[in-house]
Amino acid sequence: MARISTAFTCTACGAAHKKWAGRCDACGAWNTIVEEAPLSTGPSRGLGAAKGRAVALTGLSTDEPPPPRTRSGMAELDRVLGGGLVAGSAILVGGDPGIGKSTLLLQGAAAFARAGLNAVYISGEEAAAQVRMRAQRLGLADAPVRLGAETALRDILTTLDAERPDVAVIDSIQTLWSDTVEAAPGSVAQVRAAAHELVTFAKRRGVAVIIVGHVTKDGQIAGPRVVEHMVDTVLYFEGERGHQFRILRAVKNRFGPADEIGVFEMTGGGLAEVANPSALFLSERGGPVPGSAVFAGIEGTRPVLTEIQALVAPSTLASPRRTVVGLDGGRVSTILAVLESRCGIPFAGLDVFLNVAGGMRVMEPAADLAIAAALLSAREDHALPADCVIFGEISLSGALRPVAQAENRLKEAQKLGFSQAIAPEAQKAEGVAGMRICRISDLTSFVGETFGA
Ligand code: TYD
Ligand code: MG
Repeated sequence: MARISTAFTCTACGAAHKKWAGRCDACGAWNTIVEEAPLSTGPSRGLGAAKGRAVALTGLSTDEPPPPRTRSGMAELDRVLGGGLVAGSAILVGGDPGIGKSTLLLQGAAAFARAGLNAVYISGEEAAAQVRMRAQRLGLADAPVRLGAETALRDILTTLDAERPDVAVIDSIQTLWSDTVEAAPGSVAQVRAAAHELVTFAKRRGVAVIIVGHVTKDGQIAGPRVVEHMVDTVLYFEGERGHQFRILRAVKNRFGPADEIGVFEMTGGGLAEVANPSALFLSERGGPVPGSAVFAGIEGTRPVLTEIQALVAPSTLASPRRTVVGLDGGRVSTILAVLESRCGIPFAGLDVFLNVAGGMRVMEPAADLAIAAALLSAREDHALPADCVIFGEISLSGALRPVAQAENRLKEAQKLGFSQAIAPEAQKAEGVAGMRICRISDLTSFVGETFGA
């Protein structure tokens, strides 16, 4: 018999707790734990496949062809998917409300439809007429996409069963409800049940299902993290409202590299692809200014140059400000501590503001040296050369560690007109024609050589 008992679940990360608490131990979020009726574990209805049988691992690899992939023709989307859409895969696209998920996926569905797939777009948020209006605005009025406006999971599965699509977009998971679960739409139990049904359907019928999930700030509605573990691919659509740039980032991908990014620009006519993100992120840069350092980074499989900007100002506060946007705050604190204890450059009594230009997010440890350079440049009011890129990881001793893919970083910099690079001494990199590489062993010598301190 199915056992029904109540449990407590975190709406941010989905962790189960025995009792209520103000803060979730698993993800650290506050006020996100709610009481939920768990799924009843009733008998599964006719999955049809052989039950309780194992097959040999070796029997699978040789005669099974790799799953077919379809390219949408939107290069940035295909790249993030790992080279196209895999049939029968389940993909989660998360992002803040209003960031452009529906726009992206309507454009994506139209692109897949034009590439020959049977595409269905099911909206639980907008009526079909509204979706059609949006499509018109995006110039997709004639795209062969089938539309549905439904929120009942049973109806959606029936529609999908009848339409037999190759790819189905479900916008959004938080609006769905299943009549087998006694909980409100958007609750952890509903979101989980709906995702489970959709993923099972995707696998069984070979339909690629793209599930949209809003990232939620309060604990009332379950966020996309609750279903991350169920799907094959997790993409996040990021960006700042004020900026027109949007970044689609793969954080998990069973069929391709994680950390791959696709860059888009939100325009009046929808999302436009950005083929050369480095040029875009550096486009607002003028001449040499104090506090600016160009980091030669790697995002997924491609090099991306970004500008790290720092401002250091005298503070009136007892514990000065550390405002960091687009960088890992923990790493910034570590770099400040290393500058203070290994190089004798104190930041006490100074407010520090750090930012990555263009709304980009840089999490690579290879950015350490560029962060330190921007901080020092701001503090000393000494501009770095405008034609110089920087990369290298800083260890707690102040030594510089080599980073991966140095040549790709250097080549990208050279392509964009940079002529010198500051890199760790131990970096094994072939020289790139036209690039002068200044190799540095530790942070103290970097300070000495660059700022003459
Ligand atoms: P939307 O795709 O509805 O966001 P989400 O599904 O993630 O909630 O995008 C909403 C925003 O995008 C809205 O603020 C308006 C803007 N937008 C444009 O700038 N241009 C466009 O062509 C479209 C369709 C939307
Ligand atoms: Mg939407």
